[in-house]
Amino acid sequence: MNQSTTPRAPIGVIGGSGLYSLLDTPAEKSRETPYGDPSDRLTTGVYGDREVVFLPRHGRGHEHPPHKVPYRANLFALQAQGVRRVIGVGAVGSLRADLPPGSLVVPDQLVDRTTGREQTYFDGPGVAHASFADPYCPTGRRSAVEAAAAAGWPAVDGGTQVVIQGPRFSTRAESVWYSAQGWSIVGMTAHPEVVLARELGLCYIPLCLVTDYDAGVEAGAGVTQEEVFAAFARNVDRLRAVLAALLGSLPDDPGCDCAALRPRPA
Ligand code: ADE
Repeated sequence: MNQSTTPRAPIGVIGGSGLYSLLDTPAEKSRETPYGDPSDRLTTGVYGDREVVFLPRHGRGHEHPPHKVPYRANLFALQAQGVRRVIGVGAVGSLRADLPPGSLVVPDQLVDRTTGREQTYFDGPGVAHASFADPYCPTGRRSAVEAAAAAGWPAVDGGTQVVIQGPRFSTRAESVWYSAQGWSIVGMTAHPEVVLARELGLCYIPLCLVTDYDAGVEAGAGVTQEEVFAAFARNVDRLRAVLAALLGSLPDDPGCDCAALRPRPA
């Protein structure tokens, strides 16, 4: 196939509600996978001339808690739709006083503090080890930072996200400890979502909205679910604008090695 007849791969978007309303002519599809059902039906549609497949991580009714999101089914279902790049939108807490709620972060590192989640497609027989030194797509990250600037909401470029098991928020001592490590944000879903993308050879592009100061950074009662949801709702229009800028600007050729990093069973 030459360039003009090669279909452009759709872009996958995993995120919260309020984000898929930017798609034209959305159509919903149910998808079973060898790993069970994804969090919800996939919504396919177009943004500009870009085909997009959207999946609400926690389900449309927010029925899957972070430790029970069917991560393997979600990534598998997106890939089965032809997706090669995934934009992952998520709410996170801040571990730094100079990173206030309302900030946007495009992290470049991740620390996994989850337990007991299904986190691999290579469960045997056969052994494969994913290279994960740099978990996110480098060119996709750059596009995300540029898109955020173009949308008028400059993002923090880089930083480490620690992923906790949840569903509870961190204690003050845990939070102080994470912060003392130099980590900048804390969330509950990037692991195993990002490593499963890597195992499938997909690019993963993170867009993290800071919804709160985590317990170790602020005095007072600590994080509440209400403040997280309210902060997300306050920022969803800006997030949609960044997402639209990113979807409109991602080059056809990802220009990265993510596909080659897909591990092969020995
Ligand atoms: N998601 C949003 N805020 C969070 C926090 N403080 N800790 C973990 N996950 C979060």
